[in-house]
Amino acid sequence: MNATGRARLDRMAEWDALGKHRQELGEVSLRELFARDPGRAGRYVLRVGDLRVDFAKQLVTDETLRLLRDLAAATDVAGLRDAMFRGEKINVTEGRAVLHTALRAPADAVVEVDGENVVPAVHAVLDRMADFADRVRSGEWTGHTGRRIRAVVNLGIGGSDLGPAMAYEVLRPFSAREVDFRFVSNVDGADLHEALRGLDPAETLFIVASKTFTTIETITNATSARRWLLEGLGGDEAAVARHFVAVSTNAEKVAAFGIDTANMFEFWDWVGGRYSYDSAIGLSLMIAIGPLRFREMLDGFRLVDEHFRTAPPEENVPLLLGLLGVWYGGFFDAQSHAVLPYSHYLARFTAYLQQLDMESNGKRVDRQGRQVGWGTGPVVWGTPGTNGQHAYYQLLHQGTRLIPADLIGFARPVAELADDLAAQHDLLMANLFAQGQALAFGRTPDEVRAEGVADELVPHRTFPGSRPTTTILAPELSPSVLGQLVALYEHKVFVQGAVWDIDSFDQWGVELGKVLAKRVEPALTEGAEVPGLDPSTAGLVAAYRELRGR
Ligand code: F6P
Repeated sequence: MNATGRARLDRMAEWDALGKHRQELGEVSLRELFARDPGRAGRYVLRVGDLRVDFAKQLVTDETLRLLRDLAAATDVAGLRDAMFRGEKINVTEGRAVLHTALRAPADAVVEVDGENVVPAVHAVLDRMADFADRVRSGEWTGHTGRRIRAVVNLGIGGSDLGPAMAYEVLRPFSAREVDFRFVSNVDGADLHEALRGLDPAETLFIVASKTFTTIETITNATSARRWLLEGLGGDEAAVARHFVAVSTNAEKVAAFGIDTANMFEFWDWVGGRYSYDSAIGLSLMIAIGPLRFREMLDGFRLVDEHFRTAPPEENVPLLLGLLGVWYGGFFDAQSHAVLPYSHYLARFTAYLQQLDMESNGKRVDRQGRQVGWGTGPVVWGTPGTNGQHAYYQLLHQGTRLIPADLIGFARPVAELADDLAAQHDLLMANLFAQGQALAFGRTPDEVRAEGVADELVPHRTFPGSRPTTTILAPELSPSVLGQLVALYEHKVFVQGAVWDIDSFDQWGVELGKVLAKRVEPALTEGAEVPGLDPSTAGLVAAYRELRGR
């Protein structure tokens, strides 16, 4: 037992039972599983909101699913889930509640943190955001010289960038096309340089998005953007108030930066950065798609929240997806998980999920600080099909590693496409279905030979199959469906963290690099001595200075 009264995962009878079951399954083949149980095609489909989640091509049987649900019960996933929704401080290393679900709670809900209902504040900020977004969209909010805003530049990094940048790309067809939206994150000056090209300071609005308002990349970029603005507008400091707004939990730092706190949109320390784009961090998105669409997106989130909170384990989609990851990580030694959206608009979706998943579950100690004895979060990766098919799918099909994948697709193309382009949609989706089929069932040596392939080429042209996929199909890509998809992955990540007994809501692993960068910078610029610098890094610093002619 550990301090929370929970046995270590690898000492649980339920974990053991899964291990034995895995041994019994042996070289599990999807061809065989379907031959033995054709009904799985219909049975292994769950629905949540608009999402049809088909997991028939997973390396599982009814028995596997039962054992995985037993593990979820033994690790009390439901108990931790309920504690999260109630606002308990389940982020143990930071002593914080984890309440991104309160960001999409209905106005009459009650969610308390330290005895205070946070829902009224959430809705008050949403209303302020809506008012501001409407004013920018209508042209009522003007720049310092009275011109209307034609470009919005979000300055933020990590959760303060990836969420709004991803969602803007996804929902572009719903956006105000006459306004240019750009997202700057990297401290590499080239990022801001390229983003500002062609923009007119008189018509540009900057949103400085930073939960802490201390993140060096964002503050550096915001300082440079401020300089660009003032140079462009003749140096009148009063211009800043019309061209800079902030999104943060830190009013003091916002004021110290010179942004009027009247132009600050607030959120709270119980919203993790990677769980924040449905908070005020989504301001740029709300300006792009309008408050109504933004609220539709929140409705989509809420729908999946409610499902996760109330659906029985047999029907609970985030629970299932989380447990499948536990199965492959724990019993197939899978190291990575591919997310392969068959939609051009989801180009940045996997990058967003990388932070969500890897910053949450990339942990090596349990909630009590003891080294875990089981694999935790996978490497998450992927890009849209069909592009990936012509790049790295070779390894998915014939490589030596097992890589479970999610295939995501939509029945209808976005409404905006002209008829001839919309007609390409069937071909796109045919590729999605074909890939799932090829990965699952492959091609046997006999089948290859029967095609007349020369014997020596047969091994090269054989596809082993039994590469597991989940296919998520929705009617179309809408704001609500995006909210549903994001909430689905948020809760999947939650389930895995709960089973693995790790704190999915801190991110101490990003700290060391930040501290060292601060220490090394003066060595690069001024040649300052860095006490205790290791010889390898000292050599790199010296080489850099030499190349820079310093
Ligand atoms: O360094 C990691 C991190 O703290 C992320 O968790 C966060 O999303 C990002 O930096 C940005 O932080 P902030 O919003 O405070 O600028």
